[in-house]
Amino acid sequence: MCGIVGYIGNKDATKILMDGLKRLEYRGYDSAGIAILKEGNISIYKEPGKMSGLEKVLQEKPVFGNIGIGHTRWATHGAPNQKNAHPHTDYYNKIALIHNGIIENHQSIKTKLSAGGYKFRTDTDTEALANLISEFYKNGTSLDEAVRSALSQVEGTFGIVVLAHDDPDTLVAARRGSPLVVGIGEGENIIASDVSAIISHTKNVSYLDDNEVAVITRDGVDIKTIDNHKVNKRVEEISFDLDEIEKGGFEHFMLKEIMEQPQTIEDAMRGRLLVEEGTAHLGGIQNEIDSLLYAPKILFTACGTSWHSALIGEYLIEDLVRTSVEVEYASEFRYRDPVIERGSVSFVITQSGETADTLAALREAKRKGAKVLGVCNVVGSTIARESDAGVYLHAGPEVGVASTKAFTSQVTVLSLLSLLLARMRNMGASKGIEIVNEMKSLPQKVTKILEDHEIIKNIAAEYHKSQNFLYLGRGYNFPVALEGALKLKEISYIHAEGYPAAEMKHGPIALIDENMPVVFIATKDSTYEKIMSNIEEVKARNGRIIAIATEGDNEIGRLADHVIYVPATMEFLTPILTIIPLQLLAYYIAIMRGCDVDQPRNLAKSVTVE
Ligand code: AGP
Repeated sequence: MCGIVGYIGNKDATKILMDGLKRLEYRGYDSAGIAILKEGNISIYKEPGKMSGLEKVLQEKPVFGNIGIGHTRWATHGAPNQKNAHPHTDYYNKIALIHNGIIENHQSIKTKLSAGGYKFRTDTDTEALANLISEFYKNGTSLDEAVRSALSQVEGTFGIVVLAHDDPDTLVAARRGSPLVVGIGEGENIIASDVSAIISHTKNVSYLDDNEVAVITRDGVDIKTIDNHKVNKRVEEISFDLDEIEKGGFEHFMLKEIMEQPQTIEDAMRGRLLVEEGTAHLGGIQNEIDSLLYAPKILFTACGTSWHSALIGEYLIEDLVRTSVEVEYASEFRYRDPVIERGSVSFVITQSGETADTLAALREAKRKGAKVLGVCNVVGSTIARESDAGVYLHAGPEVGVASTKAFTSQVTVLSLLSLLLARMRNMGASKGIEIVNEMKSLPQKVTKILEDHEIIKNIAAEYHKSQNFLYLGRGYNFPVALEGALKLKEISYIHAEGYPAAEMKHGPIALIDENMPVVFIATKDSTYEKIMSNIEEVKARNGRIIAIATEGDNEIGRLADHVIYVPATMEFLTPILTIIPLQLLAYYIAIMRGCDVDQPRNLAKSVTVE
């Protein structure tokens, strides 16, 4: 959720922190701040709002030093104002701390410290930790030992970096539940919540795991557990380049990532389609195929857009593999003490690999004895590392808060999985080869849809002032209706609901009038006739109809006010195509409403807190 950067070296820490925070701003942008240590003095600058406010302050009052910490905040405790912005110091201004996560027992810590004379100046949980560390530090212990002693009393989650006024040679970082990665440099080291803040300095990184502490100096990084056991960490190399996290000439990351989808869908299939055998190969879960084939049930847990992918996974697997599938919101699964049949396999679907609810669902499924497989985009992420096995999306960094290319890559991977399992069950080679060839054609079909973006932009112009939208679909396109509605609401702030089209008559049809745009996903498939009846019902009540239809369908134009065509494909592959116009529709409407599509209000790219 929050962006975290720490630097120690011989360069200008302020510039490095600010550049790093800008790359992380998409993770949370309620406020931003830095702390620079120089000659025993901790200088703190923090501003509410986006990075631009902090930049302006630093232009007026520049600060220089070679060690510092920086933070962009997504507020959990305390309003997003200057007082509650990070970094936070202790009452005696001996240490400065930045934090991502939630200190669940912060109130009891505050009560105990207040009795010892500490005063609290903010509404945050983080300040309690700053004072607790200070309490241990003042007795002459090392900063590392003070941090570990304090954290041993903390309940909750944290990704923190700490510096002390009298130790210019040390940063101490620690994580439990909120990601931290250390960049290993020459005479300098950098720590961040995401590799995108590190990649311009070094590609050599080590990922912290839960309850690990990093003692970072200019010359090295010592990693140990909170109870002081040394940990030997592999140094890994970041797999992508800096330009992949730049906008590449597009006005917004979201548009860039929508336009990347022909390539990212191809990358999700690269090396995984076996044309001659008419099947798929997924090396990451090769050793788990038997578990999957003989599982009495396959579970999916995820959040948001990834939950929509999981719903499509349910249709795919039950349709092609005939194994029972259950899909749950991770946030519900983790707390309802689910019944998991022996031999069940659980998938966790996630772009970031850091979503707290999904990580908790993974751990709960493991505690219940299930094999847990991950479908994830971020290499080395916590969920990727804690899954028993998994499949990477290879979609490259997704910076826009609204997930687009990750969704189509997730659905592509789930289609490959279903093909693989179906071919080990009762699907014959000829059918498999037909599917493989159709999947190979998907990137150019997506390109064709993207070429029609002006048509979609014109439709957006007509409806961008609407106050409500309905999205309706059936079968494989019911989850697409949900995803289309989520895209619109999260970046344009228009209320939008997705529904199974048949559900209209059970209530939502009362909403229909000339002010209600209704988006139908109405491709030529087994549900087409039924959808056409639903369109008639809406038409009869003066609803405004936008239809996503199959190229060559000349009938639907008789009923719909607007038609956006997508190329024909196999029914179970239509979601990969039908979501594209809905992504663009949401994008253009949001732009026309003056919304910040890459950093929508109240949101963050990765929800690493409950
Ligand atoms: C989707 O556009 C949203 N940003 C959000 O719903 C997201 O899909 C959800 O938070 C899950 O994130 P994950 O895939 O990284 O786990």
